Amino acid sequence: MSAVVVVHGGAWAIPDELAKASVDGVKAAAREGSSVLRSGGSALDAVEAAVRALEDNTVFNAGHGATLNIDGELEMDAIIMDGKTLASGAVSSVKNIANPVSLARAVMEKTPHAMLTGRGANLFAESIGVSTVSADSLITKYERKEWELRKKYMTGVMEEFNLEWAHDTVGAVAVDCAENVACATSTGGIRNKMVGRVGDSPIIGCGGYADNLSGAVSCTGHGESILKVTLARLILSHIEQGKSVSDASQLSLQTMGDRVQSAGGAIVVSPSGQWAATFTTVRMAWAAVEHDVLWFGLDPNEKQEEMLRL
Ligand code: GLY
Repeated sequence: MSAVVVVHGGAWAIPDELAKASVDGVKAAAREGSSVLRSGGSALDAVEAAVRALEDNTVFNAGHGATLNIDGELEMDAIIMDGKTLASGAVSSVKNIANPVSLARAVMEKTPHAMLTGRGANLFAESIGVSTVSADSLITKYERKEWELRKKYMTGVMEEFNLEWAHDTVGAVAVDCAENVACATSTGGIRNKMVGRVGDSPIIGCGGYADNLSGAVSCTGHGESILKVTLARLILSHIEQGKSVSDASQLSLQTMGDRVQSAGGAIVVSPSGQWAATFTTVRMAWAAVEHDVLWFGLDPNEKQEEMLRL
């Protein structure tokens, strides 16, 4: 079986002016994850590397370029999970950490806990020598301008539902040659959210889940809606009942639409290397590397391929 990595840059109505940068960004992140797998890295290493690339890219709402809360501050969330051991680590409401996904991995590997939040996450980062950066260095001019334009939280929520200006989550899933799966998800959350609001992304079973017995999932969309249907676990429960990765994703997103009237997206990989990138929003930038092929898309039913440049 060959290793596979799949990434997404968020499911929302990506405007044409961000389309190329979003597709280029997910392709670069998928190449990054694939190169880790090719050099013998684990699925866990691959999803961390892919999500770091997305966090470092200002076009996406995670790390550098994340959205601001009602007070104009960053509060970023991330999760990573290892399908072999079911170990997971998460951080929430971190302000001055350039790569929240790596801090989440440290929570998983270096603490007895599954999530650290706010000040505690920062104290932990200091204690293990993860350097902090100034929060201002992670805030882009684009985001400051968008935030000024849309200061009210309700406006932010409406934007999510209308899928007009929202700017969502990034994530990655991978399976390595040993058939271990992993997932990682990272976000700035909803623009103009209340201070202290935590969405689905760092919550196990909602923003992501990984289990070698069924697969790995990373979700994107309106956090409060994803939480209500525990979207990542819902997808895996359909796989456990015999559905394909694609059918399981479509069915679960349809359930979220029917039950809580919300759209979103998910990427999935199974231990045997089956994968899917599915969304019910207007667009989702995604990319995957399987064998020597880089697959990618943005619009519904779009699936382009090119040979992987090594
Ligand atoms: N899906 C990201 C969030 O709602 O926070």
